Amino acid sequence: MTGINRAIQVIGLIFCTFLPRQFALRSPDSTLNEAQAINFLFYTLVTCDSWQIGYIDNRMKTPSATPDAILQTAFGFWNSKVLLTAVTFDLFSTLGQRRLTGPEIGKKLDLHPRGVADFLDALVAMKFLEREGDGADAKYFNTPATALYLDRSSPLYIGGVPEMLNARLLKYWNDLPEALGTGKPQNETKHGGKNIFDELYADPEKLECFLDGMTDLSRINFEALADKFDFSRYRSLCDVDGTTGLLCIEVAKKRPQIEYITLDLPPVEAVAKKHITKAGLADRIRTATGDFFQDPLPKADVITMGMICTTGTWRKR
Ligand SMILES: C[S@@+](CC[C@H](N)C(=O)[O-])C[C@H]1O[C@@H](n2cnc3c(N)ncnc32)[C@H](O)[C@@H]1O
Repeated sequence: MTGINRAIQVIGLIFCTFLPRQFALRSPDSTLNEAQAINFLFYTLVTCDSWQIGYIDNRMKTPSATPDAILQTAFGFWNSKVLLTAVTFDLFSTLGQRRLTGPEIGKKLDLHPRGVADFLDALVAMKFLEREGDGADAKYFNTPATALYLDRSSPLYIGGVPEMLNARLLKYWNDLPEALGTGKPQNETKHGGKNIFDELYADPEKLECFLDGMTDLSRINFEALADKFDFSRYRSLCDVDGTTGLLCIEVAKKRPQIEYITLDLPPVEAVAKKHITKAGLADRIRTATGDFFQDPLPKADVITMGMICTTGTWRKR
């Protein structure tokens, strides 16, 4: 590291450590960008390391190639964890249509006051919240996208996906080096030795979390399938890994003449029935249980299978 870079790093450290945060927010030249906002959250709550400031300033001095993509990807988990945390706290549903101050939000979510403003400002910088005003009186509110997709009262809610990522996949990705070194899966099967679905479905809470995530993830695709695929020539449809029955539900809304079966493993059936009944389609969509590796599939003109290549060993696939 050159003397100049070292000096910049030290200035960065002094800036972050000793100058009040409000100075940085209000200074005309220092509108917070996303990296800076996340940095504040990091310095406030997680650690007092200063080396990222050094990197950010070094970047400005690099003549041709920049380390932007490297650093953005390397720090990407910071952004991800901030969003996943906001969803698991149900922040976006708590806000709903309202505009609330940081202290009001902190009280509703039962948060320690120390990190609330930085947490919310990081979400503003990432464009997952909007803010009007400054300081303790600033009010935070949902963006059009978070109101549509992350407020539980919206029919387009997809919060099950981030909830599932936070509860399951985040920790498994941390074991990527072990997966590469051993060739072994790092998911629920790691300690139990069971099939992933047996492992997941043994716990009703994990089962519901997984099924909700899947349903949220596929809704837009299934709506598009129901709109675009010409089902008029067919009289029956069986969705073979039907989860909560969503594919059948979406197609049944558009195609009343077809007979529907949604098939999945036995523990899923009760949840599927609940979703089908809620959609008012209990008389038109039948549930079936079975293991598609072993059991004969129900007879139908159209058989669908989606996002199932992750199941089983690659030989079975
Ligand atoms: C990744 S989800 C995909 C759900 C849905 N097809 C979609 O595209 O959103 C996989 C589904 O397949 C079901 N499944 C896994 N193994 C199965 C098997 N051997 N037989 C039947 N269903 C199975 C799981 O219970 C789960 O609901």
